[in-house]
Amino acid sequence: MKKKILIGLLIFVLLFGFVQFFRPERNWQINKSRNEIFYKKEADPKIVTMLKTSCYDCHSNNTAYPWYNNIAPVSWMIANHVKEGKVKLNFSEWDLYIPEKQHELLEEIIEVVEEGEMPLSSYLIIHSYAKLSTSDKEILKFWATDKMVEIENSTK
Ligand code: HEC
Repeated sequence: MKKKILIGLLIFVLLFGFVQFFRPERNWQINKSRNEIFYKKEADPKIVTMLKTSCYDCHSNNTAYPWYNNIAPVSWMIANHVKEGKVKLNFSEWDLYIPEKQHELLEEIIEVVEEGEMPLSSYLIIHSYAKLSTSDKEILKFWATDKMVEIENSTK
């Protein structure tokens, strides 16, 4: 009986060691993106900080990785969140979206923030500082609405 447990443990340790060789590529752009949402347009520093703190890890070209990103399979899960998050919305490539798309994304941002869907709850367990307070949400919604009106006026 004890032997079986030991063999099981050994297999686990070997497998765990083996998967460490599979490292996902890091999401890190060295140069500042010229298409970033705040590159040409200034915004309330509160908004900039809020988005960078709570959203940029999954919705930009630069993820601030935690130490445990060096450990598979956690690293795979993080890579997946970043990949899926960036496909839906990438603040680093914001200026490349057509105005209609930007408008749609802003509407979605308001929606997910209102419903508490973002930042992802699994992320908030560890990054508690990324949680948005009620007043953060109000400021963010106000900013997004403002931006939507700006787009509506410029595409008239
Ligand atoms: C831990 C990673 C992570 C963080 C942090 C995060 N998101 Fe996301 N986000 C995702 C993933 C993954 C998806 C795509 C899957 C989905 O829609 O659930 C997504 C999708 C979205 C979408 C598209 C929703 C849809 O219905 O298609 C919006 C808008 C969004 N996020 C906004 C935000 C905002 C705003 C923040 C910060 C307040 C944020 N996200 C923080 C991972 C994240």
